[in-house]
Amino acid sequence: MDRSPDLDPGFAGEFADELADLSLLAFEPVVPDLRLDVFRGGDWITDFAQDVHRGLSADPPQLQPKYFYDARGSELFDRITELPEYYPTRVERAILRERGAEIVAAAGARALVELGSGSSEKTELLLAPLLAARGEAVYVPIDVSESAVRQASVRLIERYPGLRVHGVIGDFEKHLGGLPADEGRLFAFLGGTIGNFTPDHMQFFLRRLGRLLAPGDALLVGIDLVKDTAVLEAAYDDDAGVTEQFNKNILNVINENLAGDFDLDGFEHVAFFDERNSWIEMRLRALRDQQVRVGALDLRLDFSAGDDIRTEISRKFRRNGFERELAAAGLRQTGWYSDEENRFALVLATAA
Ligand code: SAH
Ligand code: TRP
Repeated sequence: MDRSPDLDPGFAGEFADELADLSLLAFEPVVPDLRLDVFRGGDWITDFAQDVHRGLSADPPQLQPKYFYDARGSELFDRITELPEYYPTRVERAILRERGAEIVAAAGARALVELGSGSSEKTELLLAPLLAARGEAVYVPIDVSESAVRQASVRLIERYPGLRVHGVIGDFEKHLGGLPADEGRLFAFLGGTIGNFTPDHMQFFLRRLGRLLAPGDALLVGIDLVKDTAVLEAAYDDDAGVTEQFNKNILNVINENLAGDFDLDGFEHVAFFDERNSWIEMRLRALRDQQVRVGALDLRLDFSAGDDIRTEISRKFRRNGFERELAAAGLRQTGWYSDEENRFALVLATAA
């Protein structure tokens, strides 16, 4: 497996082996069917400051993708999912529409926990069959984007009688400690987000998830598959420039929260398929020599024209390779659901 520690400064691979960071800030019993746990507070900005400081001081400089998603970032991502070039959402939705009920039954699901739930739109294709089969269900959306969790939660309880929502506004790498202990939980990790981890980080994450799975629980992971390079690259570099805006939004988030003075017009969006690593890599490339200050970090950065900040990778998998990586993390593949052209797959697994 390719080890690329330089690409993943936020991942030490050695932090204490527990998931609970129970610095719960607020517990909001909003309405009878909706509870929201908010973990994202003051420590978020401290973590953000530390991560940005470390990332931008690294060589090459890099930022962690979870910081794309403030309210504007989540909105831009939703626009990405509607772009003609961005096939993953459409293909994953089609698979879920066709096989959602089958997946829910195969998983023996009674509750749905979703990591990086975003707008929770595709999730309805799992929730509807779950409710149809059982009459009631619990849904636990977890996302760092507060606006995304709030909007989705309210929409879903209004739409589905019998559904209780226990939303978690937090980091799925830190805040999985206090999940409801219902039996038969299906953990869904959709959208290919698992591909945003480096290989080592994904192993580490899957191991931890595996330990969290009780007997009777299952994991459903959406993964994007290797395909023609032009198709892959277009999905991350659309003609309308929405992905460019999304990529640059991370600079806005730094400007707004850490008193930065990044000039968004001083950088261009770059996305290319790295065949050796089988991932799309996204970068922001300085268009000219420039100096940037991040006030809250007391940091001054000098960019020369052509210098890159790495902002994200998105891995593209092959069926055998992913199954091997699951097995290496102590998980067992129990189902594979993909489209006819093998563009995208949903993989069902249990603790081995
Ligand atoms: N599942 C949705 C959204 C995918 S985009 C879909 O398939 O369309 C990735 C989502 O994961 C975003 O909503 C982002 O806010 C969230 N996310 C990224 N890193 C996260 C982290 N460490 N903890 C919690 N949520 C995270
Ligand atoms: N999980 C999504 C993916 O890898 C995230 C994503 C899509 C993304 N397009 C992007 C992240 C553009 C940054 C920039 O497909």
